[in-house]
Amino acid sequence: MTDDSAPLVLVSNRGPVRFQPGGEMRRGGGGLVTALTGLASYRDVTWVASAMSESDAEAARRHGGKAFPVSLPDSPRDYLVRLVESDPIAYHGFYSIVSNPMLWFIQHYLWDLSNAPDIRNEEIQAFDFGYKQVNEDLAAAVLEEIEGVENPVVMVHDYHLYTLPGVIRRERPDAFLQHFVHIPWTQSDAWRVLPARLREELFTGILGNDIIGVHTMAYRRNFLQCCRDLMDLEVDFEAGKVIAPDGRVVWVRAYPLPIDAASTRAVAAKQRTKDFETDLQRRRREHLILRVDRADLSKNVLRGFTAFDVFLEQHPEFREKVSFIAQLMPSRTDVPEYLEYLERIEALVAVVNQHHGTPDWMPIQLKLRDDLEEAVAAYKNYDVLLVNAMFDGMNLVAKEGPLVNERHGVSILSENTGAHEELGEFAISVNPFDIQELADAIHTALTMPPEERARRHKGLQEIVTARDPGDWIDEQLDDIAARRRG
Ligand code: G6P
Repeated sequence: MTDDSAPLVLVSNRGPVRFQPGGEMRRGGGGLVTALTGLASYRDVTWVASAMSESDAEAARRHGGKAFPVSLPDSPRDYLVRLVESDPIAYHGFYSIVSNPMLWFIQHYLWDLSNAPDIRNEEIQAFDFGYKQVNEDLAAAVLEEIEGVENPVVMVHDYHLYTLPGVIRRERPDAFLQHFVHIPWTQSDAWRVLPARLREELFTGILGNDIIGVHTMAYRRNFLQCCRDLMDLEVDFEAGKVIAPDGRVVWVRAYPLPIDAASTRAVAAKQRTKDFETDLQRRRREHLILRVDRADLSKNVLRGFTAFDVFLEQHPEFREKVSFIAQLMPSRTDVPEYLEYLERIEALVAVVNQHHGTPDWMPIQLKLRDDLEEAVAAYKNYDVLLVNAMFDGMNLVAKEGPLVNERHGVSILSENTGAHEELGEFAISVNPFDIQELADAIHTALTMPPEERARRHKGLQEIVTARDPGDWIDEQLDDIAARRRG
């Protein structure tokens, strides 16, 4: 039984919309927004999020800092959004030093430990006066939203907000707090780059929740092991429970995130998407390899291009017959590691194109932009979808692609993505560090017999349509109701 009577308040750093200078509204990017936009079309929610730019802050001020209704083109319902402004210096420490890269890198095993990170005063202050401050600012807005509400349910999202639940728990012991982490939960030693005090504050904060959700059983196990190793807490791996430092029992659960098939199909049917398709089909070669990602280090873009380079070297019969479209949305460009990564991507694409290209064939087409319709047009037309992330919480591209693809496209899927737990059987699994294996996988995918492609494509489609975000949220609300019943 779900408890529909309790009002739902969502809180995350990135909200469903972002504002452009001049006030134009755009959809927010990334997996979290994709997931929760679906959820907002099933339930009435108030979504509290950070004002991430000056234009967001202006929009927040236009609404007196209060929640305002927002309707998104592909969502059948309006929902209320409240954007919270923080001090810019605090926000910089919160977002560009602690959340990214520090926590993001810890939770994707991205630190190159002999070189980085260095923990200095700057990092400690970014934690004490940035991360914690922004968590408090968002917590204050949530507390206002639930003021006077009996038994409120607050759903907290992701790694930006690990200290927020502790703040709300102190002020409103009656609130039900549920936290979903959209990224991997890594093993204990990955967390040891943080000083013990910071670790303890982060874990104590997140253990202020009643339920913590992750995408996979592996992440659940890692979280519980961290509680034991780093916090010396009592954990029950079978039942998925841990006793928090204040003695409360916290449940840890796996809820693999599905995609919203109806809204992805609606984008596929749009005229603008079809216009992109016409153009793409006019220019395409016999085979099309596609990747669609945020330009994030965890996505392993460089090894993907290197593997393509090796493939073309070893299979010259494919020259001029295959193109590789990489649609990458620039991301977190205020963080130096991300900016440098973009530069390395562009440089490598130039090298591969120079190495193999001819006057009328450019092997890799790099599209550095965030355009959903353009991406979905490419989804419909790929022969091979490449998802080779080093580590990835779920990876929704691996689900959206097969849903709308019309060519029995083959998925190459990293075994270190959350999606692999569900889709691995029908994909070509790869170790994301093994470049030769990836080059071989490209060859296997491009030469796979049609019946086998069709069989795998059908298998993928069945899995990605079996559950929707409504089921995902119901599973969580059912657990909330069960927990409340004791
Ligand atoms: C991932 C994270 C989200 C984040 C998104 C985009 O999906 O789990 O929390 O919003 O990336 O990243 P950004 O830093 O642009 O919000």
